[in-house]
Amino acid sequence: MSKTVLVSGGAGFIGSHVTVELVQAGYDVVIADNMSNCDETNYKGVCAILGRELPFVKMDFCDAKAVRDLFAKYPIDAVIHFAAFKAVGESVAEPLKYYGNNLGSFINVLEAARAKEGGCNVLFSSSATVYGEPEQQPVTEQSPRQSATSPYGNTKQMCEDILRDSVKAYPGLKGIALRYFNPIGAHPSALIGELPRGVPNNLVPYITQTAIGKRECLSIFGDDYPTPDGTGQRDYIDIVDLAKAHVAAVTRMLDGKMKAGYEIFNVGTGRPCSVLELVKAFEKVNGLKLNYRITARRPGDIAAIWADPSYANAELGWKAERSVEDTLASAWAWEKHIAGKE
Ligand code: WQD
Repeated sequence: MSKTVLVSGGAGFIGSHVTVELVQAGYDVVIADNMSNCDETNYKGVCAILGRELPFVKMDFCDAKAVRDLFAKYPIDAVIHFAAFKAVGESVAEPLKYYGNNLGSFINVLEAARAKEGGCNVLFSSSATVYGEPEQQPVTEQSPRQSATSPYGNTKQMCEDILRDSVKAYPGLKGIALRYFNPIGAHPSALIGELPRGVPNNLVPYITQTAIGKRECLSIFGDDYPTPDGTGQRDYIDIVDLAKAHVAAVTRMLDGKMKAGYEIFNVGTGRPCSVLELVKAFEKVNGLKLNYRITARRPGDIAAIWADPSYANAELGWKAERSVEDTLASAWAWEKHIAGKE
């Protein structure tokens, strides 16, 4: 009897890639999304890749009754919670919108999960942003969290603590927080990928939109950081590798392999990559020249962060496999695919 996984925010960039990997690993998946930050492109792409429709519920996780009804309708064995707002800058301008939505929706999920007969497993989409500007690199799960530099980052820390405390208090509830580094790329089919609304905040969609001519020029935010080439360093993890880490974590929970009620894993490659290195790799693998210029630092950016993924490698039996070149080729293929559709 296959297990059922609810993917909240499953029509989004990460949620859709995780859905594909879960179904291909033999899980039944229910997608629920309020479509506030995406359209049907990725959901249709998921169905095309899998060759079939999936149960899809349009709903808002801030609606407690709708969440209860969802848990009553489907035999949910595990939830992967992506449904949240995630724009760092917007969260500074609209803190109440972020606290209300990101905390409220997660609390509704946990209330429904803990009330479920036989308990439930909850996988939370956290972020390396909880580490702030680390004193030491690479960061491990024991590296200290630093006070958040944005309400968005604070909601990630608060949701980790809410999950930790709920697992302690409510029998039957198990939890894992996956701290992602920088997810990039698209599915090799080019049928699902990142669909930023408006001007992209993140680097790779800005690169691909510049390459396709939607943006005039990429601004590299600062080349005076204390890094080898002066530009910011991050741990860019391929979206399909990231999705596979979710399958490994859900399987760990459902197979009863957890070693504690609440666990945290860094999901990264362990390889630091600078902005300039990424731009050069993009140009090389795709055989094009990118129009870019160096500008001032972006307020709130940190110089560098990258993961020590050895705990996830060992405990989840998972390792990032795709090269940054393959990932950047997939990002470019996706940009061309959606340009053709517009
Ligand atoms: C990466 C690097 C920029 C855009 C954010 C969130 C994090 C997570 C991932 C949600 C930095 C540089 C960027 C551009 C640039 N989001 N850059 N020009 O800031 O590391 O992380 O997205 O979970 O929580 O904080 O990602 O892609 O914005 O920036 O030079 O147009 O690229 O300075 O060095 P970031 P990013």
